[in-house]
Amino acid sequence: MIKIEALSKSYQDGKQFTTVLENVNLTIAPKQQIAITGESGSGKSTLLHLLACLDNPDSGSIKVHEQNICLFSPRQRDAYRKKSIGIVFQKFNLIECLSVWENICFPARLNQNFDEPYLLDLLEQLGIAKHRHKMPTALSGGEQQRVAIARALAHKPELVLADEPTGNLDDKNSGKVADLLFMLCRSHQAMLVIVTHSAKLAKQAHLHYHLSNKTLKLQTND
Ligand SMILES: Nc1ncnc2c1ncn2[C@@H]1O[C@H](COP(=O)(O)OP(=O)(O)OP(=O)(O)O)[C@@H](O)[C@H]1O
Ligand SMILES: [Mg+2]
Repeated sequence: MIKIEALSKSYQDGKQFTTVLENVNLTIAPKQQIAITGESGSGKSTLLHLLACLDNPDSGSIKVHEQNICLFSPRQRDAYRKKSIGIVFQKFNLIECLSVWENICFPARLNQNFDEPYLLDLLEQLGIAKHRHKMPTALSGGEQQRVAIARALAHKPELVLADEPTGNLDDKNSGKVADLLFMLCRSHQAMLVIVTHSAKLAKQAHLHYHLSNKTLKLQTND
């Protein structure tokens, strides 16, 4: 269970402060899948960065199992990210000098959580097992994004954060990759927060929030 309470975040640009998030509240139940939509610049990535402990809020808290991760020391933040978080970026962010297989093993090895049969199964489910000895640049966009999904799940994180994971894909691949992401998070019992511009994709989540005027509003999927 993750509980975000009264979270606020502003950025300073010279002398000027811009508030991006103000008094944001959100509860993510175990295994829950949450979609966040919102205009460009509304603060979606900022919220994901805070959830990933990559940045600190100005005020408010993010409690994970009753622990406020915003108060973690740098060492605790690192450990939390390595163990508990998997991130899928819009632009894949694969390590180009490592093969597909090495890219996927990397977070699991870093976390001393290397489970080869599990990783091979993950690749099979994503339909990229046959590409595992290739370099990422030899794959199509859709294939690279599937590798990125495998990498995000490789260390069995409890929270997967996906920031417009299908933003660089065509409609057909976008649907396929999103389906796989939802399906895998469900079968691995991970919580998922997915940022998307697609209303269709947002409807696949358990809850859909829209970020505007610095805060989240629950949308009804009708
Ligand atoms: N490190 C930073 N320093 C200063 N301003 C920032 C920083 N990161 C983000 N911002 C500003 O905060 C606002 C929200 O940015 P954010 O990246 O969270 O938006 P977003 O909703 O993810 O947008 P997009 O859909 O375009 O990815 C923007 O106005 C952006 O310029
Ligand atoms: Mg963004």
